[in-house]
Amino acid sequence: MSRLIVISNRVSVPDKKKKDGAQGGLAVALGAALKEHRGIWFGWSGKETEVFTGDLNMQRTDGITTATIDLEPQDIDEYYNGYANRTLWPLFHFRIDLAEYERQFGSGYERVNERFATSVAPLIEPDDLVWVHDYHLLPLGKMLRDRGIKNRIGFFLHIPWPPTRLLVSLPFHERLVLTMLEYDIIGFQTREWLESFCHYVEKELGGTVDADGVIRFEDRVVKAQAFPIGIDYEEFSRAAVGDTARSAYERLVQSAEGKKVLIGVDRLDYSKGLPDRFEAYDRFLTQNAESAKDVVLLQIAPPSREAVVTYQEIRETLEGLTGSINGAHADIDWVPIRYVNRGYPRAELAGFYRASRIALVTPLRDGMNLVAKEYVAAQDPEDPGVLILSRFAGAALQLTDALMVNPHSGDEVSEAIRTALSMPKEERIRRWQGMIETVKNEDVKKWQKDFVAALKGS
Ligand code: ADP
Ligand code: F6P
Repeated sequence: MSRLIVISNRVSVPDKKKKDGAQGGLAVALGAALKEHRGIWFGWSGKETEVFTGDLNMQRTDGITTATIDLEPQDIDEYYNGYANRTLWPLFHFRIDLAEYERQFGSGYERVNERFATSVAPLIEPDDLVWVHDYHLLPLGKMLRDRGIKNRIGFFLHIPWPPTRLLVSLPFHERLVLTMLEYDIIGFQTREWLESFCHYVEKELGGTVDADGVIRFEDRVVKAQAFPIGIDYEEFSRAAVGDTARSAYERLVQSAEGKKVLIGVDRLDYSKGLPDRFEAYDRFLTQNAESAKDVVLLQIAPPSREAVVTYQEIRETLEGLTGSINGAHADIDWVPIRYVNRGYPRAELAGFYRASRIALVTPLRDGMNLVAKEYVAAQDPEDPGVLILSRFAGAALQLTDALMVNPHSGDEVSEAIRTALSMPKEERIRRWQGMIETVKNEDVKKWQKDFVAALKGS
């Protein structure tokens, strides 16, 4: 079997001592996928070094070999906080109002991608399959080709691909997309993002795309395909009934004192629609004063990308909203929102999901959203909760039995909360059964197997 060389910006080195779980879909999914394969996971350590050396820190833990490099402060500023998270992230999540186009971000992005290529190239052996991940590393395939790497190289995008009319606002967009045509296969979370990519290739580059997603441009042939990512269903559903989950479940149920819990679990990111969610909940409390005190919202939101101003702003906005909503509705024995800014071990999260009657997964735009799938996997089959899901999450194309909402509409979300709270058990079970099959069958192992098979060209 060929080795797999996985390359991503962030590498989650397994650490049994760490109290909080890995946050972010990519880290969670790749950790699970790499256990299946012999190979190496290469990327940034998350640490700073004064001067870049390219020295590799190799570790083998829990069946996964990781190789990481440290980056200079300027790299982190221009590549990670800059081009990746101030330019591409907002643009790819349809927020051109937040996207910043700075020349030095673009050059930092290219420099770091070159550094990644130079550092990882010596690790690649002739039969290895190379799998590059996410928006931080769009041009890496081309840079590996420039270093003589002839292996099969695939790329998977974990976030949305924006419509052409938005993407063209990015300076040098053609140059960026052209580098991607050096991959053998390009994967997207859903058909929607795949179609947007193919549309761009046809309209802006003048390439052709056939019915099987085979792109032809000059002398290059690249396959583009949707591979919806899943969770490690087996591990997560087992964790949901384990001891740790059970005590987390008890803790939440006891502290809720008979109230129904609504749960939200999201990185503190403006794409997750948290202010709109809180405002919709506020509307629900105001419009349903008689049942308001029967519910409590637990929002778990670990801070993310804290050096970026838009992330500092979203944090301030939410703190303000939590204060004003709690101030307006709370009583001496009840606070409507519990707002928690920390990570939890995955088994504890599973217990919290299971103890919650409703999950609010209402991003304004999301490549997939694994929280929605984790919530479904953690439910008690005899008495499952209700998933309220944004139609703008990639997961909405698969979890069609969720209560689907437009997250921009406070009325719609408030109404969905009301419907979910009064939903008869038979309907909850029926909807859950519809979703659990998808979560189970289209899990992270299938995602990994399907992508690797396509990467092999089989
Ligand atoms: P994204 O990749 O944009 O963060 P996803 O919903 O796809 O969004 O993935 C988020 C992952 O991070 C999920 O597996 C979720 O359980 C995990 N996560 C989010 N918040 C926390 C938290 N507070 N503690 C532990 N894990 C978390
Ligand atoms: O899933 C999208 C994603 O951007 C991943 O690439 C990333 O690892 C995760 O969200 C969390 O973000 P970050 O690595 O910037 O903390």
